[in-house]
Amino acid sequence: MSEFRAIVTERLILRPVAAQDRARLVALANNWRVAKNLSTMPFPYTEAAADDWITKQPSLWAGGKTVTLAVTLDGLLIGGIGIGARDSAEWELGYWLGEPYWNRGYASEAAIAVRDYAFGVLQLDRIVAGHYADNHASGRILAKLGLRYTSEVQRFSMARGAKVRCLEMAMTREWWLESTQNQARTVAVA
Ligand SMILES: CC(C)(COP(=O)(O)OP(=O)(O)OC[C@H]1O[C@@H](n2cnc3c(N)ncnc32)[C@H](O)[C@@H]1OP(=O)(O)O)[C@@H](O)C(=O)NCCC(=O)NCCS
Repeated sequence: MSEFRAIVTERLILRPVAAQDRARLVALANNWRVAKNLSTMPFPYTEAAADDWITKQPSLWAGGKTVTLAVTLDGLLIGGIGIGARDSAEWELGYWLGEPYWNRGYASEAAIAVRDYAFGVLQLDRIVAGHYADNHASGRILAKLGLRYTSEVQRFSMARGAKVRCLEMAMTREWWLESTQNQARTVAVA
């Protein structure tokens, strides 16, 4: 992972988060409609929260168990996406975009690329993700990616300050190979 620079998709570049992202991160993440759908994003989202999050990324990357990326469009951060080890057997996918960028297919494009990176480059056997039951857009993205519903849990949302009904989904490497066998699944890693 040390040579990793970026994942390049049709319209986006997914690259490690940098100090230069701080202002856009705060501007886009400090939004209730974003934070309420995530389990670990605080609300309000302060400059201190952004600094803390950006600063800890290199050590998380160095541990080899987390890949966190800024989703960028024309060189500017528009959101974040990551996949990290939940335990030895499975890694969890998560993502968010700033509200001005919703409903243009960007999250699907980024998530498909990270799914293919996870199975094709990291050689993972299983990825999981969960969306709050009222977050239908994320459920749609995960279903399009090929994840299937597995269970229902109550997951804490830091922004809501409460446990929220969460629908968990998973995808195995086998399903990925089957579902993408007639499609290009090469991930462009710059
Ligand atoms: C969820 C989120 C990432 C979606 O980003 P996006 O770029 O708008 O997503 P996309 O455009 O790639 O795809 C959204 C899909 O959901 C669908 N959708 C949008 N709103 C919907 C709704 N209320 N009900 C059902 N489907 C919906 C869209 O039609 C699209 O499906 P399609 O491609 O079949 O048309 C974005 O809204 C966000 O960041 N939300 C806050 C954080 C979050 O929810 N993160 C995920 C946590 S699990």
